[in-house]
Amino acid sequence: MAEDKNSATLSMNGKDYELPIKSPTLGPDVIDIRKLYGQAGVFTYDPGFTSTASCDSTITFIDGEKGELLHRGYPIEQLAEKSHYLEVCYLLLYGELPSTAQLEDFESRVTKHTMLHEQLHFLFRGFRRDAPPMAIMVGVVGALSAFYHDSTDVNDPWQREVASVRMIAKMPTIAAMAFKYTIGQPFIYPRNELDYASNFLRMCFAVPSEDYEVNPILSRAMDRIFTLHADHEQNASTSTVRLASSSGANPFACIAAGIACLWGPAHGGANQACLEMLREIGTVDRIPEFIARAKDKNDPFRLMGFGHRVYKNFDPRATVMKQSADEVLDLMGIEDNPTLQVAKELERQALDDPYFADKKLFPNVDFYSGIILEAMGFPTSMFTAIFAVSRTVGWISQWKEMIADPQLKIGRPRQLYVGAPMRDYVDIENR
Ligand code: ACO
Repeated sequence: MAEDKNSATLSMNGKDYELPIKSPTLGPDVIDIRKLYGQAGVFTYDPGFTSTASCDSTITFIDGEKGELLHRGYPIEQLAEKSHYLEVCYLLLYGELPSTAQLEDFESRVTKHTMLHEQLHFLFRGFRRDAPPMAIMVGVVGALSAFYHDSTDVNDPWQREVASVRMIAKMPTIAAMAFKYTIGQPFIYPRNELDYASNFLRMCFAVPSEDYEVNPILSRAMDRIFTLHADHEQNASTSTVRLASSSGANPFACIAAGIACLWGPAHGGANQACLEMLREIGTVDRIPEFIARAKDKNDPFRLMGFGHRVYKNFDPRATVMKQSADEVLDLMGIEDNPTLQVAKELERQALDDPYFADKKLFPNVDFYSGIILEAMGFPTSMFTAIFAVSRTVGWISQWKEMIADPQLKIGRPRQLYVGAPMRDYVDIENR
């Protein structure tokens, strides 16, 4: 809980209002305006929540100016190098790094929930084969509420725990099935002897007619992609999950809402949009043309994979992702990959350009992740689905934190109404 510090004074219409100031562990102080409407009869106005803290949280901290991302205090670079996805899941969910016994227990619980209710196969079969995997995921994850009734009571801590493990365990299976369905191949069941990332790769790329051995470098790269996307404090999809959950809705429905939000190109859809942009640019000589378009106020085009609401410096995840891209392309023997060349040169030219420097626009995590995923054999339509798999633990951790908070209130923003004032109904013949 943040500490109360001094207070701020708001002077309005000849009256002063004292607003408490709260001090966080890290980051800027926060002015507590919860009683402002009751005392002064005014709302605050902040579309896009650019200056508004919507909750207390102990999970993730970002210093956008420094380009720093901490999970429970641990820097993302250290977690990406020394840890692995399921250990980071444990950390996000329970607050501390696990002991060996705790980790083994957690991994075993997740592994034992990887299968889906068999009846769900029929739900998949109701979709068109050309459905985007994200459309299937929104539907199937929402439908989990109809299958796992014994973990939908949000007031029962045990059911919350079971739902959390189920979601983390089943998301790779759902994403892999969405992929297999859209390419017309049979579903591949999970294998419990494999680690989380290897199991996902196998479910995506194995076929019943031949053996599939997961390459450890690809598995490591996949695990890193999962780790780097695991949580990112109060981003749009996480805030969506929190808002949906604030009404007491069940966790499967709320995660489906988070997936829907993540789908957009300004959020999780950016790595797909970025790779498509890099392909459209095609060759290094066309980069200046696209940079000019990104700078043109009359052109809606933006450099995808550039800029971030919070980072006004390098996204620390982008640096790790860039290294992974080199390793994966090297392993796959993809030398002189034209997309990677365009990406590297675009990054160099944009960083040299005062427009991007002045607006503090730097490459974000999505700038390189698409290149890795493509080299692994994923179509662009799967990129956001993979992001959703990774982010599930973040959504779940934030949801658990919120539900356990005794101060929980339904999320209900106010508005600045600028529509018509009250007027009388006009009969249709008189309009
Ligand atoms: N290319 C060109 N100009 C840009 C870009 C970009 N990628 N991003 C921001 N700008 C410009 C804007 O035009 C604006 O200019 P102005 O001040 O002259 O009007 C200024 O920079 C600030 O931009 P905003 O949109 O106000 O910044 P905001 O914080 O709202 O947006 C966002 C952040 C949505 C990520 C934006 O940078 C963007 O659209 N980037 C491309 C999409 C992308 O890569 N998204 C992934 C985000 S990371 C993630 O979800 C994992």
